[in-house]
Amino acid sequence: MLGHPKRPSIVSVCAFPVALVATAFFGPSVFAQRTDANYDESKVGQYHLPDPLVTSGGRKVTTSAEWFQERRPELLRLFQTEVYGRVPEPRRPIRPVFRVHSEDKNALGGTAIRREVTIAFSDQPDGPHLDLLIYLPGWASPSRRVPAFLGLNFNGNQAIHRDPGITLSRQWMRNDARKGITGHRATEATRGSDSSSWAVERILARGYALATAYYGDLDPDHDDGFQNGIHPLFYRPGQTRPAADEWGAIGAWAWGLSRALDYLETAPEVLARQVVVMGHSRLGKTALWAGAQDPRFAVVISNNSGAGGAALSRRIFGETVAHLNTSFPHWFCANFHRFSNHEDLLPVDQHELIALIAPRPVLVSSAEEDLWADPKGEFLATLAADPVYRLLGTDGLAVTEMPRPAPDRLIQSTIGYRIRPGKHDVTVDDWDAFLSFADHHLGRENR
Ligand code: GCU
Repeated sequence: MLGHPKRPSIVSVCAFPVALVATAFFGPSVFAQRTDANYDESKVGQYHLPDPLVTSGGRKVTTSAEWFQERRPELLRLFQTEVYGRVPEPRRPIRPVFRVHSEDKNALGGTAIRREVTIAFSDQPDGPHLDLLIYLPGWASPSRRVPAFLGLNFNGNQAIHRDPGITLSRQWMRNDARKGITGHRATEATRGSDSSSWAVERILARGYALATAYYGDLDPDHDDGFQNGIHPLFYRPGQTRPAADEWGAIGAWAWGLSRALDYLETAPEVLARQVVVMGHSRLGKTALWAGAQDPRFAVVISNNSGAGGAALSRRIFGETVAHLNTSFPHWFCANFHRFSNHEDLLPVDQHELIALIAPRPVLVSSAEEDLWADPKGEFLATLAADPVYRLLGTDGLAVTEMPRPAPDRLIQSTIGYRIRPGKHDVTVDDWDAFLSFADHHLGRENR
């Protein structure tokens, strides 16, 4: 399983002995979700979603020009100032520098090119930087360019594959003895520990490149008052933390995805107009936010992104805004904390995040047992984004009823949706669906 280190658990909200009793009776899986969350549909009640096609001044949006010139900028600004935080003007202009750190044209038994690129954000040798790992099919070349998947990873690049040529991350990581992370650092034992979530060989065999980087390079995922990572590079003189409407960690991770795309635009073997941004869970929230802000991403895929991602905040099912802000106070901007237990006052809801991606293809992927992420709320958000996609001349979402969980059912309209049986995770089947969705929308189906 990938990326659960901070999944709120009974342990974090109950006294120790209660937690022990719970483990004895229910086994460890009960720890995946908090007990104070609502899992009863009948308690969801009535809620009123903001209409993505009505401006805050109450005017109906009826043309794509009105969407792009008026409503979209307004929604983007609201997500920037009230939810994820805006990227501040940096103290000094940030001019990322790309340095190829290693390259092996005979990686993975001669089937792949492996390249590691350091993207430096400052001229300080020990300043913040992103270590991007790229695998390309062995045959890729400037005359045979390939589309690419781009996604951040949870435990360092070396965790995505056993390939001993991947540089071991030296960044802070949450301890996880099972995965070989001790003293907040990755050890050799972490190599390949998340490989089940990164179908590298499959991605390459389908003719795509894979680019990935450790999210903690951009901002280590703990609440340190924004002293490490990239935030301080943007502080004005005397500033010590982001202002209430400035970015939290998700904003920083999303910004990093755009910087990785800046590099991919220069990679001679990559079709930069065919980059799919993908993320799981908190990194699924991040992928959606990156895709919403940066129109260069051709396709956006969120897997089990849940609250603060694809799931509607107003449904109050599974994780809520208050859970997010309590367990992860550093993820969103400070303004977002005002909406804990006041979701009805939010000027936006998450269907409008999906709508910001329109008319580009977006796939929301849910897992049946991942109730904490509210699969139904994720589906309903795709449905509520449909009018925007249709206004922009696409087929929107092809269904109006939530599909039943099935391993191989993929709604392939421009808004895609899928729910598979099983738990919160990224599986090989998920990757098959992501690849099919990308093939369909990048015109690669009959190759
Ligand atoms: C926690 C958190 C979720 C998040 C998940 C993850 O469960 O509550 O919002 O998506 O961690 O990133 O694994």
